[in-house]
Amino acid sequence: MSKLPLQGKPWAELETELKAAKADDVDWVNGRAAVYIHYAGEDVLEVAKKAYLMYFSENGLGPNAFKSLARFENDVVNFGLGLLNGGPDALGAMTTGGTESIFLAVKAARDRARARNPNLGTPEILMAQTAHPAFDKAAHFMGLTTRRLPVRPDFTADPGAMRDAIGPQTIMLVGSAPAFPHGVVDPIAEIAAVAQERDLWMHVDACVGGYIAPFARKLGVDLPPFDFAVPGVVSISADLHKYGYTAKGASTLFFRDGEAFRFMLYDFDNWPRGRYITKTLVGTRPGGAIAAAWAVMNYLGEDGYLKVTERILNVRRRLEAGVTALGLKVWGRPQLGIMAYGSEDRDIRAIGERLAARGWLVGYLTQPWGIHLMLNLTHEPIVEAYLADLAAAIEEAAAMDRPSTAAASYS
Ligand SMILES: Cc1ncc(COP(=O)(O)O)c(C=O)c1O
Repeated sequence: MSKLPLQGKPWAELETELKAAKADDVDWVNGRAAVYIHYAGEDVLEVAKKAYLMYFSENGLGPNAFKSLARFENDVVNFGLGLLNGGPDALGAMTTGGTESIFLAVKAARDRARARNPNLGTPEILMAQTAHPAFDKAAHFMGLTTRRLPVRPDFTADPGAMRDAIGPQTIMLVGSAPAFPHGVVDPIAEIAAVAQERDLWMHVDACVGGYIAPFARKLGVDLPPFDFAVPGVVSISADLHKYGYTAKGASTLFFRDGEAFRFMLYDFDNWPRGRYITKTLVGTRPGGAIAAAWAVMNYLGEDGYLKVTERILNVRRRLEAGVTALGLKVWGRPQLGIMAYGSEDRDIRAIGERLAARGWLVGYLTQPWGIHLMLNLTHEPIVEAYLADLAAAIEEAAAMDRPSTAAASYS
């Protein structure tokens, strides 16, 4: 078991140790990981790192002390609202990640529902089977229940099934844009119509799509409407540390209006150190992540995001074509940076095992079994190498004399 050293070590030694420690990690720099990382080029990374370091010690908990951070956050929120068709009354805040944004959306929905109906029992969230576990986690932590509903054959949420599933405790409907497993966008407008009809809170989980879908649309991708342009959408989560390419620890949560937004806040005054009013779940907030988000967004601008998006979409298209040419099947109709593929007649887990043996970090999908890819610019140079290894893996898997027992784990 590791123990705190009795005496400290010099930085030079630690730096060497840190560098060496990375040897055991996945080689994401060379495109071996299609999960966890969102890379948009060395220049973007440099901007994020420099801005982060400039605000390394500053704390977003103190907007009066760090007026610059308050201004950066305000700018970032407005950039996001501009991209997601927020109207004049829309508001939002930066959080530390998708899970925190989702927690706060669930809290706001729960508190609004309780304000409207003080006798409400245990509130319930309805969503498709493909929605992110952060909703279940939030419900678990905050005393709600969730129900996951089967998806349609194209792996998108089924608005009819949601309508049928609504019960007296239902307070919130969720749609994903896109959902993480297959990378397909749910029919947000149809779900929102159901939510409006039944006066429910509609949340759009655009954690993974919020900062790529608006640009993909501008590039001609025929995405269904998924943001505040859709009547009935009350809140949207959109992660900056994914396709916003900013430093980790940065997401945004938006609300259609001030009435919804105020349910996000927490206000407390019964202790000896003064009123404590926060928008977020966390108290201390990394100033670096806020500054880095502001800097990267200003550095890239719309033009930069369009260029990166186009390149990532092309990587996905090349991979889709390559995978299909090898006789495998892309699940559903991915339109952004995520895709998943499998096979109706081959053991895709065995293929995954063989790919892993060739040094690729393989992420599995389980419903149906498949291989999951969340793409970024580290994958641009490796498409051909990946497909060549996939072709070899297919051959090797066919020769395997046992079914694969590869397990799917996301974290
Ligand atoms: C659709 C979706 N929602 C929420 C999350 C959670 O985000 P985080 O890991 O930043 O908490 C993810 C993460 O991949 C996601 O893909």
